[in-house]
Amino acid sequence: MYKNVTLIEHPLIQHKLTIMRKKDTKTVHFRQILKEISFLMGYEVTRNLELEQVEIETPLEKMQSPKLKGKKLCLVSILRAGNGFLDGLLDLIPSAKVGHIGLYRDHETLKPVEYYFKIPDEIEKRTVIAVDPMLATGNSAIIAIQKLKDRGAKHIEFMCLIAAPEGIKNFETAHPDVTIHTAAIDRELSDIGYILPGIGDAGDRMYGTI
Ligand code: URA
Repeated sequence: MYKNVTLIEHPLIQHKLTIMRKKDTKTVHFRQILKEISFLMGYEVTRNLELEQVEIETPLEKMQSPKLKGKKLCLVSILRAGNGFLDGLLDLIPSAKVGHIGLYRDHETLKPVEYYFKIPDEIEKRTVIAVDPMLATGNSAIIAIQKLKDRGAKHIEFMCLIAAPEGIKNFETAHPDVTIHTAAIDRELSDIGYILPGIGDAGDRMYGTI
């Protein structure tokens, strides 16, 4: 149905997502489960990373053995909810570099405005995994990915927890070369941009803010 979407349907991820969706799930559990899901999703998102053969020596003899090819991978958190994905992913890929992109919506122009942008060097040589739990309208993710491309990023994957059909369509139009990895595709967006049925405001639920 969608060209560039990988739906990650692993039973453990689906079970954990159900707990996160429940309105009574407390902040501490929400954050813990998001960390567990991001670890499990990371395993799937990194499935196609390139390997190269290197010569090593076991205690018995020399051999050719695979290692990840190229420079260290880069995780990019789209602030603030993207940070909820970082701990789990960094447990899985401890040597990854980390970038952050902060965007807010200007109330008058309704356009996203960048307030923070910091990424590792030589981004063009790294596989980038950009993360934001909710792909709603797709506007922030689309701009964040464009800014990464403007800095030279060539191989980008996008990972979210829940995507709305509207967001997927917008994202696919803007970035047909970037795969969206998501644990769920929900029904629709509400009038005020929430994903339905969704999980509510991901940032508020993970940090206990209102
Ligand atoms: N951002 C969220 O945190 N939740 C939504 O439902 C949509 C955007």
